[in-house]
Amino acid sequence: MKASLIIAVDGPAASGKGTIARALATHFGLPHMDTGLLYRATALNLLEMGGDPDSEFAAARATELSQINATDPELKSETVGGIASRISVYPLVRAALLDRQKQFAAQDGGAVLDGRDIGTVIAPDATVKLFVTARPEVRAQRRFAELKGRGLDVHYPDVLADIVARDERDTGRDAAPLAMAADAVLLDTSDLNPEAAIAAAIAAVEAKAA
Ligand code: CDP
Repeated sequence: MKASLIIAVDGPAASGKGTIARALATHFGLPHMDTGLLYRATALNLLEMGGDPDSEFAAARATELSQINATDPELKSETVGGIASRISVYPLVRAALLDRQKQFAAQDGGAVLDGRDIGTVIAPDATVKLFVTARPEVRAQRRFAELKGRGLDVHYPDVLADIVARDERDTGRDAAPLAMAADAVLLDTSDLNPEAAIAAAIAAVEAKAA
């Protein structure tokens, strides 16, 4: 049996971690989980149930997800992302989503997971941990272009303010805050295009896993 390769990719909103994680999964032939989707699906479920995002119990109930339709455009909306960030501070929500992430990380052969707490909580023994970041203005510009590309009427200052608020909430919460693991490799993608960022990530994994 080939050795298990677990790659943890963490970082703030619009840092490029999702693009990098997907490319690493393809390159190394590993399954990939975008853990942000679990929080987004919970947020969408809560909205559809008419639940209150200020209630930890309502949010925890909304983690009972049957099937996540990853192609549902609503999952990627800023409204759902904002509520995902708000409910992800609740320990009950995090606890309810923990097992499926840990099981995914522990599967035979390994896996790539991206999120906020993969290297610190979900897979502290990951073979390689990457912390992908970029300057807030660069991340806001990327998110702005992405939203514009989807035909949405958005304004750059609002997108930047949202990114900054999300960073503060994700890093400031008590439960599994966004943090770089002590043994993670830092990858700043501010001045890298996607191809260069992916190449740097592959090189970092190969160097660590060697
Ligand atoms: O990349 P972006 O911030 O737009 O979204 P995401 O990765 O889909 O995550 C949405 C929200 O879920 C984040 O703002 C985090 O608050 C939360 N999240 C988390 O707490 N832990 C994770 N492992 C993944 C996401």
